[in-house]
Amino acid sequence: MKLGVNIDHIAVLREARKINDPDPLDALSIAKRAGAAQITIHLREDRRHIHDSDVTRIIESSALPVNIECANSLEILDFLLPLKPSRLTLVPEKREEVTTEGGLNVSEKLLPTLEKILQNDIDVSLFIDSNSVENALFLRDKLGLTSKDSSFGIELHTGKFANIFLMLESNLGRTQHAIKELELPRNKLRKMLIDELNLIESSANLACQNGLGVYAGHGLNYQNVGLIANIDSISELNIGQSIIARAVFVGLESAIKEMARLIV
Ligand code: PXP
Repeated sequence: MKLGVNIDHIAVLREARKINDPDPLDALSIAKRAGAAQITIHLREDRRHIHDSDVTRIIESSALPVNIECANSLEILDFLLPLKPSRLTLVPEKREEVTTEGGLNVSEKLLPTLEKILQNDIDVSLFIDSNSVENALFLRDKLGLTSKDSSFGIELHTGKFANIFLMLESNLGRTQHAIKELELPRNKLRKMLIDELNLIESSANLACQNGLGVYAGHGLNYQNVGLIANIDSISELNIGQSIIARAVFVGLESAIKEMARLIV
C-alpha cells in the first residue's frame, strides 16, 4: 500500500510564529528517502497553513507526485490548474472547522470542475464518506470515463473511524478534547468501530471492483492504521498529523519509515 505524506502540519508550526521556519519544502527529500510515494498538501481558502508560494515551490521541487487537496473554488482552481500537480483531491471546506469534517457532497454540480481538472491532464480524486461511492461512480460515467481510466479516484474519509478509535483506545475521553457525541459506553463504541470499519471496507471493495482508484485518509495514526491497511482494495493512505507529531520526537525520516512499515 502506498503512503502519501501530508506535510501541512509543518506549515502549521511555521504559522504559529509567522516566520519561515520550519519550511515544508525541507520535508520533500526526507519523505522520498523514507519511502513515501506521494506528497500531499491542502491549499485552504483561508491559507491558514500552506501558502500559494509553498504550492509553487513544492510542485517545482518534489521528486514525488504531488497531490493537492482543495475546495471546489474557482479562485483556488485558477491558481492550481496551471501548476499541473499530479492529482487534485476535492474536499469540502468550512472556514471555522479545525480540520476537514466529513466528505464532499457528491452531486452533478461537481461535473464542470471535474471536467476542467481532467482537461488539464491532472488526475482527480473526491474526498468522500463511505456512503457516497455510488454517486462517485455516477459522476465518472457522466464524465465519459470507464473503469480503465486511472485518472479518477476517491479518497474515503476515515475521520469517523479514527474518532471512535481514539475514544475507545486512548485517553482522549478523559481530556478536554473528548468528543462529546462519542462519550458512550465502551461496548457501544466497540460496535460502532466494527460497523464503521465494515462500511469502509465494503465501500472500498465496491469502488475497487468498479475500477476506481481507492485511497483513504484522515485521523490515521500508528495505533489505528493497521485496521485500514488490512483492506486490500485500498491502494493508498494519506497521513499527516500523526506523522508530523511523531517526527517532533524521532525525526521526520524515522516517523515516515515507521508508518510505511505498518502499511506495507
Ligand atoms: N486526506 C485528506 C483528504 C485530508 O483532508 C487530510 C487532512 O488535511 C488528510 C488526508 C490527512 O489527515 P490527517 O492529518 O488527520 O492524517
